[in-house]
Amino acid sequence: MDGPVNSRGGSTTSVDVDDLDLSKLLDKPKLKIERKRSFDERSFSELPINVRQLESYDSLYSPGYRSSGIGTPLSTRGEAFDPHPMVGEAWEALRRSLVYFKGMPVGTIAAYDHASEEVLNYDQVFVRDFVPSALAFLMNGEPEIVKHFLLKTLHLQGWEKRVDRFKLGEGVMPASFKVLHHPTRKTETLIADFGESAIGRVAPVDSGFWWIILLRAYTKHTGDISLAETPECQKGMRLILSLCLSEGFDTFPTLLCADGCSMIDRRMGIYGYPIEIQALFFMSLRCALILLKHDAEGKEFIERIVKRLHALSYHMRSYFWLDFQQLNDIYRYKTEEYSHTATNKFNVIPDSIPDWVFDFMPCRGGYFIGNVSPARMDFRWFALGNFVAILSSLATPEQSTAIMDLIEERWEELIGEVPLKITYPAIESHEWRIVTGCDPKNTRWSYHNGGSWPVLLWLLTAACIKTGRPQIARKAIELAESRLQKDSWPEYYDGTLGRYVGKQARKFQTWSIAGYLVSKMMLEDPSHLGMISLEEDKAMKPLIKRSASWNCSKPKEDM
Ligand code: GLC
Repeated sequence: MDGPVNSRGGSTTSVDVDDLDLSKLLDKPKLKIERKRSFDERSFSELPINVRQLESYDSLYSPGYRSSGIGTPLSTRGEAFDPHPMVGEAWEALRRSLVYFKGMPVGTIAAYDHASEEVLNYDQVFVRDFVPSALAFLMNGEPEIVKHFLLKTLHLQGWEKRVDRFKLGEGVMPASFKVLHHPTRKTETLIADFGESAIGRVAPVDSGFWWIILLRAYTKHTGDISLAETPECQKGMRLILSLCLSEGFDTFPTLLCADGCSMIDRRMGIYGYPIEIQALFFMSLRCALILLKHDAEGKEFIERIVKRLHALSYHMRSYFWLDFQQLNDIYRYKTEEYSHTATNKFNVIPDSIPDWVFDFMPCRGGYFIGNVSPARMDFRWFALGNFVAILSSLATPEQSTAIMDLIEERWEELIGEVPLKITYPAIESHEWRIVTGCDPKNTRWSYHNGGSWPVLLWLLTAACIKTGRPQIARKAIELAESRLQKDSWPEYYDGTLGRYVGKQARKFQTWSIAGYLVSKMMLEDPSHLGMISLEEDKAMKPLIKRSASWNCSKPKEDM
């Protein structure tokens, strides 16, 4: 379809919400710079699609929205791509995982693994796990399930949640929920977990962020702005934002988190300011900026978001970024520097740099490290945070290119035989004991500790398309295709190269299935990228010199 359509297929008169930029929101004159496409035409011409199709990908509505017949994966109808035999089976498996509430599909269960003796909570609908399912359904022209999911989880957000005698913040979104059937009473009820039943009792910080990101993906793809504009959705967003924009003792714009509060939901030494949460925080702030109404309540949040985005992007781009030069600078850091002229602001002791990173760092490439806090830099690579940094344009175009360069340079380490590593490298021996608390699931090169997670394929693919390097995604997808179906879609793989099906990996893990489908559909029709990617905001300040960041005066005009 050419023009904007709403969910019923009619025209809408909505504004191009994605065109809002920071300067506009602060009533500053907007620079007249032509929008630059973030991926280059040259690389795109490698794709067997009509490039013209892409021209409008950055407008509010993705052009690919079609309403499909249920059960018929549109992606297998592509003319340019021969559907891989796995695609059909993947769709069947994805549909098997659907969860219904009062006759309506409201989500997908984490794993449909009948062979597994231990169900644990894999029979629940996880918010983060549902994201690739939702994208697959949207891309296939089935937005209703996504809408139901967004509304159901919004309803759950309103519940009073307690851990022992402590009441959690109002805005917290559940990590997961489940539909309970009462066969005698013939009723259905929902139960949700906000961290009070989760292993370690940690509330998910990522759920609320994913919810906002998904609401924007839904709005962008269907053109149905009416859902996001309902008072309920607006309030839901404000509640999430209140939780993460509140003022406290922080000296950093990043968000302080407990271990286990995101995809890595067990103790893995990610407490502090983990990259995964910072990147999702940034992306959801940008999505909220697009979706919030400019009414009295909305405006107040918009102003706070704009300020936070400036500070957050500066902080992340300066202090979390590591490349060869930066590593060398840190290696030569002086310590115990006092006052605002300090170069080594967080007093990182060069001796704390692990040996592996010196060999791992290529001359070409770079990445956002895992964590930065006083006297502590976690140099590990975390895939999700880096890909979301690319998609949200938290990474500058140069940084995005460098991240993709790193993937190419360190293919064996980061992609391996079955894509792709959640973190690199694994922690072992004494360090494993201290950091994980002797976690038997997170032994070296397993699960969260250097395991390989097929779900991450969709994020890699999206990042590849955005940076104009689809050939990288194609290579990774080929590797996945040689194993996933044969191994019954495991949750994760173990080993330095990811060759072994994970020790305790579930089979028919829904997000492994959905992640594969999303990757295939995005490569087939890159205009889908628009729903999960944001262009660089021209109003965001470019990287400035480190020493210039300290300022005790009032924020300058151009903030
Ligand atoms: C594991 C993963 C978590 C996921 C859950 C359900 O606990 O670490 O990210 O949401 O399984 O698949």
